Amino acid sequence: MGWLWESLNSSIGKKIVMAVTGIFLIIFLIVHLIGNITLFFGPDAFNGYVSTLDVVKPLIRVIEVVLLAVFIFHIFNGLRLWLENKKTQGGKFFGKYRVNASSENSSFSSRTMIISGSIVFIFLVLHLGTFFWRFNVHDPQGYADTHQYFFIVSELFGIWWYSALYVIAVLLLGFHLNHGFQSAFQTFGWNNKKYFPLIQKFGTVYAIIMALGFASMPVYFFFFYGGNL
Ligand code: HEM
Repeated sequence: MGWLWESLNSSIGKKIVMAVTGIFLIIFLIVHLIGNITLFFGPDAFNGYVSTLDVVKPLIRVIEVVLLAVFIFHIFNGLRLWLENKKTQGGKFFGKYRVNASSENSSFSSRTMIISGSIVFIFLVLHLGTFFWRFNVHDPQGYADTHQYFFIVSELFGIWWYSALYVIAVLLLGFHLNHGFQSAFQTFGWNNKKYFPLIQKFGTVYAIIMALGFASMPVYFFFFYGGNL
């Protein structure tokens, strides 16, 4: 197992871990967004969707454990790469770990990965502490017990600061994804002159869809429901 540890610890090993875990998270976000779109079709559609997931609960639990491990690897490795970069750059604040990139041609998204990533992490703690907790562990209003999950969403997104935090966090998530997407493909060597610009464009379109898609939910609930159930 020593060889595995050594490979994962090498510079390229860490980038590969970032790319593989990043792609897993990119796919998770697509699935999560598609599932959440049922919110726009009213209480029955969303409650029905969450209750259907309940039927395959053991599988969902396994996916959640994998997801947690993936998040931990992604964050831990990202921090280590950032710290290493900071050291080699003589303590410059903004880190980057792009292959073949110099500070002259690096983008805003790439220079701020550590900041956007940290804010998304704080958002995730808040998100799981409210949504995941109330859906799965304890809902003081009792909506989860009666499968009225939609009301939990409309109650939370009726809180102005909670919704505002969501919008800010998912817009930053967009910047994180914009660079993360192309960076992952670059790590896998897909950086030839012909196809890389296409991958970059695709990544930007993906990032915009995710940011606007997730931001639309708190905005919709705040303005159309305003905390009313
Ligand atoms: C803004 C719109 C969003 C809404 C309405 C939303 C809704 C939810 C809900 C209802 C759950 C609990 C699902 C259940 O346990 O049955 C959940 C879980 C989760 N969310 Fe979100 N979410 C949003 C955005 C995000 C974003 C942007 C991320 C990632 C950065 C994220 C990551 C997660 C994770 C990791 C879980 C736990 C895994 C799971 O149970 O599926 N969510 N979300």
